[in-house]
Amino acid sequence: MQTPAAVRRAVPLPGRLAAPEPGWTTRADVVVIGSGIAGLTAALRLREHVGKVLVVTKDVLSAGSTQWAQGGIAAALGEGDTPEEHEVDTLVAGAGACDLDAVRVLVGEGPEAVRELIALGARFDVDASGLLALTREGGHHRDRIAHAGGDATGAEIQRALVAAVELAADIEVVQHALAVDLLLAGDGGVAGVTLHVMGEGERDGIGAVHCRAVVLASGGLGQVFSQTTNPGVATGDGMALALRAGATLRDLEFVQFHPTVMYLGPDSRGQQPLISEAVRGEGAFLVDGPPEAGGRRLMQGVHPLADLAPRDVVAKAITRRMHETGRPHLWLDARHLGAPGDGEEYWRRRFPTILATARRHGVDPVTELLPVAPACHYASGGVRTDLWGRSDVPGLYATGEVACSGVHGANRLASNSLLEGLVFSRRIATVLPGELRPWSEPAPDPRAPGLVAGSARRELQELMTDRVGVLRSAEGLAAAGAALADLAGRPAELVDLASWETTNLVTVATALAGAAARREETRGSHWREDHPERDDGRMAGHFDVTLVGGVPSIDFHPAPATDGDLVR
Ligand code: SIN
Repeated sequence: MQTPAAVRRAVPLPGRLAAPEPGWTTRADVVVIGSGIAGLTAALRLREHVGKVLVVTKDVLSAGSTQWAQGGIAAALGEGDTPEEHEVDTLVAGAGACDLDAVRVLVGEGPEAVRELIALGARFDVDASGLLALTREGGHHRDRIAHAGGDATGAEIQRALVAAVELAADIEVVQHALAVDLLLAGDGGVAGVTLHVMGEGERDGIGAVHCRAVVLASGGLGQVFSQTTNPGVATGDGMALALRAGATLRDLEFVQFHPTVMYLGPDSRGQQPLISEAVRGEGAFLVDGPPEAGGRRLMQGVHPLADLAPRDVVAKAITRRMHETGRPHLWLDARHLGAPGDGEEYWRRRFPTILATARRHGVDPVTELLPVAPACHYASGGVRTDLWGRSDVPGLYATGEVACSGVHGANRLASNSLLEGLVFSRRIATVLPGELRPWSEPAPDPRAPGLVAGSARRELQELMTDRVGVLRSAEGLAAAGAALADLAGRPAELVDLASWETTNLVTVATALAGAAARREETRGSHWREDHPERDDGRMAGHFDVTLVGGVPSIDFHPAPATDGDLVR
């Protein structure tokens, strides 16, 4: 198949964020942007091999997405399980768009990486004989999800990593700091990064960190949509910064909507409570009404794995039934979990976070149905990297949700995300010390500065939810593209955090909507009502977005489908 020529759309995105000149400077060999599993794993490993490592985080160290992960971390750790079986499940979930080599790295190195995390101090749940307790989630044909604190896996991993970083005197941490833009050397490679520190410690306001490499581990873009499981910090900053610096964004159209997010009412916005897929892994099922009033199980007959079908299949089935019935949500029936009469104790032990959250919102899952609807959960695409985390910009590496290593394809397999951050950060720490760039001065920056009004954020989120959400069409995507161009041209009155974040949101939303418009098929988490079938003939491959003079350029790169003869 021919590679279609790049499509250029006249969307005037800022070439860099407008910001005051740096008022302070410092130096570090490597700057790690982000402090979840990916960022802290990279920092802890790099400190053994490079001079100074500086970790920048937008809030406090523990505030990112890792902290919120419930279900767990997938790896072939159980008796009889193999990386090959994990590979098959990953490829099938990814709907032909995974990179086979990257998946093999993930599943092959995953078990050892998890064991190292345990050795570092992360305490996972064990069974009566002291072995790791493993559960199942959507798309997995084996129990292979390790979990901690019942449903508080991310919080436990974050605790262990933060404790290790706090003991590492040679890692400097800058909290409450937005990474604004990369400083680039004359060869286009990394020379540093500008930060905006929000009023704490010795440094305040805009400053410059001169460095020899940057590891981006800043998480996803969930705040592009009105409802998401992502925390408020997930505003696509890393992807936007990388795009402005010359990196390529790949597979951005593949945004995963988690099927079971607690429905809190039509006006609820921002981060919403996740009801882990592990609840279905333990036996809960979706219903389209209370069974005692004639409600039926949704997933029986839809997929051989029923409620544990891959996430995109379940999210689509829920959305279809919501459209058919006109209801804003369906329900999860988990009232039968635990031994008869022992539900309360079971929920307290296995899903303490979800139990407390649901009750706080007035629903008792021990005795009541949980109202659920899909919401934005995970960006399967991101900054395109090779198998060692290298982006197209010399000295810029990416890992975790901000990256597109190729492991997720069109739909991430449940609980592969923590694993990806762990595995690829270890890889970056293996190669980066040997390829550190010489210190270089930032070159004069030719990129045109700009800033979008912070007040445009809500409008952007509603537009993206309506037009670029679970169900997409050519018409809706064209309307979204035009509206985004308008938003991009709405100038900021203030140079502040709201405007920087909104500019980043508009930037990644424009790239996402552009790639979604080009992908004229339904594959994985990308669902086009006007192209309801998967089309390997025309669409097997990847859409890559770059920014050329502030204008997004979208190029198609064909690649054979990687699920080959595997059962779909
Ligand atoms: C969940 O617990 O359902 C989320 C796990 C994941 O996103 O991989």
